[in-house]
Order: sequence, then C-alpha cells, then structure tokens
Amino acid sequence: MEEAVIRHYQKPDRDSVRKISWDTAFMGEPAGIFFEGQDVLADFLTRYFTDYEPESCFVAESGGKVVGYLIGAKDTRVLAKKFLFGIFPALLIYAFLKGVFFKKKNHIFFLNLLKSIFNGEFKMPDFSKDYPATLHINLAAGFRHSGIGSKLIQAYFDYLQAHNVKAVQLATMSEHSAEFFVKQGLCQLFAGKRTYFRYLTKKDTPVFIYGKKIA
Ligand SMILES: CC(C)(COP(=O)(O)OP(=O)(O)OC[C@H]1O[C@@H](n2cnc3c(N)ncnc32)[C@H](O)[C@@H]1OP(=O)(O)O)[C@@H](O)C(=O)NCCC(=O)NCCS
Repeated sequence: MEEAVIRHYQKPDRDSVRKISWDTAFMGEPAGIFFEGQDVLADFLTRYFTDYEPESCFVAESGGKVVGYLIGAKDTRVLAKKFLFGIFPALLIYAFLKGVFFKKKNHIFFLNLLKSIFNGEFKMPDFSKDYPATLHINLAAGFRHSGIGSKLIQAYFDYLQAHNVKAVQLATMSEHSAEFFVKQGLCQLFAGKRTYFRYLTKKDTPVFIYGKKIA
C-alpha cells in the first residue's frame, strides 16, 4: 500500500467521501444491510460537512485515491441548526421523491428506529457548550490499522487548535473504534445503548460519546 497523504478536503473528493460513508455506515460495514438509498444516506451523514463546512474536513489519499476521511464541524450548535432547518426538511422531500419510503428494507429500519426514539434511547446529555466541535472519521476497508486514522485525527486537532476551538466531542456506536479514540487521548463522557439494530445483530448496540479538551 502506498503511504497515505493527509490533506484538506477539496470539492472533487465529494463522491469518494460519500461512497466511503455508505461503505462504513453499519459500524464499519456497508449500509446496504439495513438501507436502500445510497444518496439519501450519504446526504444525511455527510452533506453538512462537505457542503457547509468543507474547510473543517480532511481526507487521506493513497495511490491517487481517497481512502478515508475525517469530516468535522467547529460548532455542533451551528451544525444542528443548519441540519434541522435546512438539510433535513429538504432531505425528507428528496427521499420521498427517490422512493426511499416505499422500500421494504427501509420500512423495517425506520420502524425499529422509531421504536428506539420513542423508548428514549436518543436522549443524551448536551455537551455542546463545553465540547463545541465534532467529527466523523471513516477509512475504506483495506486501509485500516496502519496509522491513517491517527494522522487524520492529529491533522484535525491541530486545525482546531489553530482556530482556538477549546474542545471536541464525537459519538460512536463501534466498540472497536472506541479503543482507537481512547488511544487518541479522548475520554468517555457518556455510554448508552440502542436497540434498533437488534433485528440484524441480535444484540443491543452500545453508543458512546467521547470528548477531548484541545487548548
Ligand atoms: C476507527 C478507524 C478510524 C481507526 O483508524 P486506523 O487508521 O485504523 O487506526 P490506527 O492505525 O491509526 O490505530 C491507532 C491505534 O488505535 C487502536 N485501534 C485502531 N483501530 C482499532 C480497532 N478496530 N480495535 C481496537 N483498537 C483499534 C490501536 O490500538 C492502534 O494502535 P496500534 O497501531 O499501536 O495497534 C478505522 O479503523 C475505521 O475507519 N474503521 C471503520 C469505521 C469506523 O469504525 N469508524 C469510526 C466510527 S465513529
């Protein structure tokens, strides 16, 4: 494998980032197991970052190909506002027009997701005042465990420091990646569980929030 170079995100990287987001959306595995509608899910996962705050995003490139990304936001409150009042309503219409609500696989997913929401599993403490920034990081299969993730995180932390952002938080549902985040100096702020993938995994999925002071 050619050594990966870490650089700022650029517009032509958008499709690669979206593809990797789909390929890793099920705790590091492809989203096709629970969802039909690649564009819709990629919009949900990446649109704010690539289209509204591209300056806070980084990619890893190897052999001329984007093999991983870290998409970030300096202020989760700005992200939430833009997402709730801009991206999400437009996405609902787009998803409807694309027929996403008429697929059986998606019905099962949405039904389980709604059950989880109504059971209160999405209630979490709000850390946005003390930990304003956030991130999502994902590498394509075949490019993991060779230090690329650590380099992406370091580039982002340096960027946050240069912009006087005091702290960062992130949520993950992957127990394996939790170990990675601890190694990057993040501390666990919250641990909970969600049941909406039980119909696929036969067990509850943990959810963790990790945080780190930057300055
Ligand atoms: C999680 C992820 C970003 C880590 O990046 P990476 O390049 O694989 O990690 P690194 O090689 O930089 O690892 C640094 C350290 O983290 C730990 N680590 C990394 N991945 C780990 C895993 N899956 N399980 C346990 N520890 C892990 C190791 O201790 C490693 O140290 P070592 O090299 O001395 O063994 C990457 O593996 C990935 O994209 N995984 C799939 C998608 C995912 O889970 N994303 C996170 C969702 S929030």
